[in-house]
Amino acid sequence: SLPIIRTVSDLRALTAIWRREGASIAMVPTMGALHEGHLSLVRAALARADRVIVTLFVNPKQFNSAADLAAYPRTEMDDAAKLAPLGAHVLYAPYGDEMYGPGFATTVSVSGVSEGLCGAHRPGHFDGVATVVTKLFLQGGADFAFFGEKDFQQLHVVRRLARDLDIPIEIVGCPTVREPDGLALSSRNVRLSAAERRIAPKLAETLFDTAGRLAEGVPAAAALDAARVALEAGGFDKVEYLELRDEETLAPIEQAEKPARLLAAAWLGETRLIDNVKVMPA
Ligand code: PAJ
Repeated sequence: SLPIIRTVSDLRALTAIWRREGASIAMVPTMGALHEGHLSLVRAALARADRVIVTLFVNPKQFNSAADLAAYPRTEMDDAAKLAPLGAHVLYAPYGDEMYGPGFATTVSVSGVSEGLCGAHRPGHFDGVATVVTKLFLQGGADFAFFGEKDFQQLHVVRRLARDLDIPIEIVGCPTVREPDGLALSSRNVRLSAAERRIAPKLAETLFDTAGRLAEGVPAAAALDAARVALEAGGFDKVEYLELRDEETLAPIEQAEKPARLLAAAWLGETRLIDNVKVMPA
């Protein structure tokens, strides 16, 4: 079965052995409640590296409210049971004190790509992500780390911090895994009521339709207005943001002339959904 490691020193002892064997190492950071989106990252990591560390840590620093943190699903035994048959090599699930011990006082803060989009609506969120991801990278000493495009801004934040801090790790982005009706898999989808679950796929559907129009050259202002109206008419309570950004730099753009991303966050009752799709101009 899958070994579970709780401390930095145990993790370092294990990776030292792997290093002596000449094995390459990949890391897949998660907050658990694993679904097919997470498992797709683990499979991609296993295809790329000799050893795969899956991390499970519900990081308090990246939550905006104590209620959201308390409500976050915790299913470690089920998670371990999903990982073992895939062939992941270790589950690193550190104790809270191991990550943030007494007197902990350091924050990794990435400017630029952290601003706007989710960063504008979740103060401190990307500082929390950047801090924990930096720690995981330094603890694990992996050659590769796998992240989902589902959290596209997060992927950019992580690439930036690895580059800026000279952490010798290759960041690999993987495509968003979706339900058959298009809804992006998310640990928070379980919170949707039956009625909300029927509305939820409208987000992906609207993003794909709008990406098609943008690719045909429709200016962003007109296409995004129509998309907002479609989402609100379709039953979303509030569209938090809906924006066209450059695929490589995340800079705001008015028209999709080179590869771009259309990103959105919208609320269904108490649940906030995010999604994004690629826009490829013809
Ligand atoms: P979590 O939400 O558990 O997601 C872990 C990884 O799974 C992230 O890289 C995320 O983008 C990816 N993922 C989630 N849903 C996906 C989907 N439907 N398709 C493909 N990949 C998907 O993101 C975090 O945790 C945390 O912020 C973390 C990076 C672990 C730092 O605490």
